[in-house]
Amino acid sequence: MFMKEPENEQTEFTRKRYNTVSTIYDLMEWPVEQLWYKKWRQKLWQKVTGPKVLEIGVGTGKNIPYYPKNVELTGIDLSPGMLKRAKKLLPKLINDSVTFCEMDAQQMEFPDDTFDEVVATFVFCSVPDPILGLKEALRVTKPYGRLHLLEHMKPEQSFLASIMESLDAPIHFLSGVHIARQTVANVRKAGWDIDKVQDLTAKGIFKNIEATKPH
Ligand SMILES: C[S@@+](CC[C@H](N)C(=O)[O-])C[C@H]1O[C@@H](n2cnc3c(N)ncnc32)[C@H](O)[C@@H]1O
Repeated sequence: MFMKEPENEQTEFTRKRYNTVSTIYDLMEWPVEQLWYKKWRQKLWQKVTGPKVLEIGVGTGKNIPYYPKNVELTGIDLSPGMLKRAKKLLPKLINDSVTFCEMDAQQMEFPDDTFDEVVATFVFCSVPDPILGLKEALRVTKPYGRLHLLEHMKPEQSFLASIMESLDAPIHFLSGVHIARQTVANVRKAGWDIDKVQDLTAKGIFKNIEATKPH
């Protein structure tokens, strides 16, 4: 039933799933946002100094309150439904240095070496080809530029990992999210030098990953 679709169909599927959930996304995420995400976002953004910053997978704009002042921020997302909600929050910011646009992280329209820092929170669980997306992130980052991620992924503990593997396909079918990705390995495979991996919860399901683009 849960057959692997060709790449462009998977991208279209992901776009549609997020368009569908966009109106209830903030409500769905409210408990985890209060319990965990808020404090993790705050900590992550405190380390971002830019000056040119790319946020991949802006979603409904949950990171907007934490954007540092004095950076030029470009945000992209695959889903116009999610992006529409994020854009509604922008006029509240007296900040014309933030630009949001619809774009696929697997195929970005930016030239090589454009950004000083790239941020993505809970995004590479949904990008259909995460290694391709992470390679694109590397391409558009300047040499020695930095990547900051918050992600959930498959834990090392084998029993839990096998449960998550077996639930991955149905959960993806319903929500567009993969729960059994190996994001630390994917970051490395894409060519980034990993500086830090911090477990944020028990079993290492949620992690903060920091990496640098080698010269
Ligand atoms: C789980 S939501 C996270 C949203 C936001 N970053 C947050 O922290 O709440 C994942 C987001 O990634 C976006 N996304 C998935 N695949 C993408 C791709 N290939 N390119 C750009 N955005 C993508 C989805 O549209 C969605 O808005």
